[in-house]
Amino acid sequence: MDSKNVFPKGFLWGAATASYQVEGGIYNCDWAQAAAEGKVPVCGDACDHYNRYQEDFDIAKSLGHNAHRFSVEWARIEPREGEFDTEAIEHYRTVLRALHERGIEPIVTLWHWTLPIWLYEGGGVERKDFSKLFARYASHVVAELSDLCTQFSTINEPGVFVTHGYLYGCRPPFKGVRILGIDIEKDYGEKTSARIGRFSHIVSFFRVQRNLIKAHNSAYDAIKEIAPFVQVSVVKHVRFFVGNWNPFNKLLAVVAQYFQSGHFLRGVVNKLDVIGLNYYKSTHFGGTEVFDMTDIGWKVTPWEIYDALKYLERYKKPILITEAGIADARDKDRAEYIRKQVAGVARALEEGVDVRGHFYWSLLDNYEWDDGFEMKFGLVEINYETQERTIRPSAYVYKDLIVHYSK
Ligand code: FCB
Repeated sequence: MDSKNVFPKGFLWGAATASYQVEGGIYNCDWAQAAAEGKVPVCGDACDHYNRYQEDFDIAKSLGHNAHRFSVEWARIEPREGEFDTEAIEHYRTVLRALHERGIEPIVTLWHWTLPIWLYEGGGVERKDFSKLFARYASHVVAELSDLCTQFSTINEPGVFVTHGYLYGCRPPFKGVRILGIDIEKDYGEKTSARIGRFSHIVSFFRVQRNLIKAHNSAYDAIKEIAPFVQVSVVKHVRFFVGNWNPFNKLLAVVAQYFQSGHFLRGVVNKLDVIGLNYYKSTHFGGTEVFDMTDIGWKVTPWEIYDALKYLERYKKPILITEAGIADARDKDRAEYIRKQVAGVARALEEGVDVRGHFYWSLLDNYEWDDGFEMKFGLVEINYETQERTIRPSAYVYKDLIVHYSK
């Protein structure tokens, strides 16, 4: 372990979760409806985190975490259009208090992909007034919670939301794009029989992309009007693209990087206090290097978090690593993965990149979207029959790193 501490004082160390993936008992959102129709795996009680958050935060504290990222569920908070549920808000206030009692700093994501049924059935993100609806919801939540939390992210991974829902068609609303009879992404599309492949869905794809940028910007303004002191971020997934020596591959990498990350970030950069980085994988154009694969089939390249951070440096905003982690059911590679990931962050910090926090994905094993409960990303293993929690050995390796770098 490096003895020189490059991590600034007050650096946030923790893990992340998302409401639908861990809470359980959410039946009025698009994913629950899709599950009831047999289009995606059933989520059901998930980790029952809605009732067991105290126990889970005790674990986070015991693992040395001083911060925690979680999301609030839109469908609980606004179960019918324009009607806000006070009990749901009270629940999240209690959750925030539970974190503070343990000395854990919260960061709240306002929307991590799932939509209330009324909104989904009314056209979802394609709706003309989506940005207004989102801004109203976001400012309501911030008005209710900002005495207990000052860091809010608007949208989680807008790019993944739009590609999976409106290009590959493997997630709600299952609008795959089909060009000349060929589906744009066979592997992803095969995960569900619900996909409808049409060329015309390309129009929805671009409309949703545009609406997401508008939604973030409108929410930013609405939040700042009522709570100018809160820090607003967007959580952007950056897939790092590299080209080998071949100039064509290098050009391909630049173009891919722009469409994957640059386009969205340019659209929101003027209304952003912090950038949230989710880093999982990279794409290498050309070259013969062979990489190990995680359980979910993603290349093991944790050190390239450094490159993703260097890429984001151009936006001149503080960065929070809001997610980075590995699916590893046997916990055989996770410790090494985390070590290399943290080393990549340290390297970026040494070169002056303004990184403020690191949240491992995830605190708990959870519902991994169209992969159901098969993928195990957790520092903590969940027995879904008994809801028993078991801390994995790699969680202690992360703890040792936190202790070492917090000195
Ligand atoms: C990210 C999502 C998160 C989780 C991880 C593995 O894309 O934000 O909810 O599914 O991938």
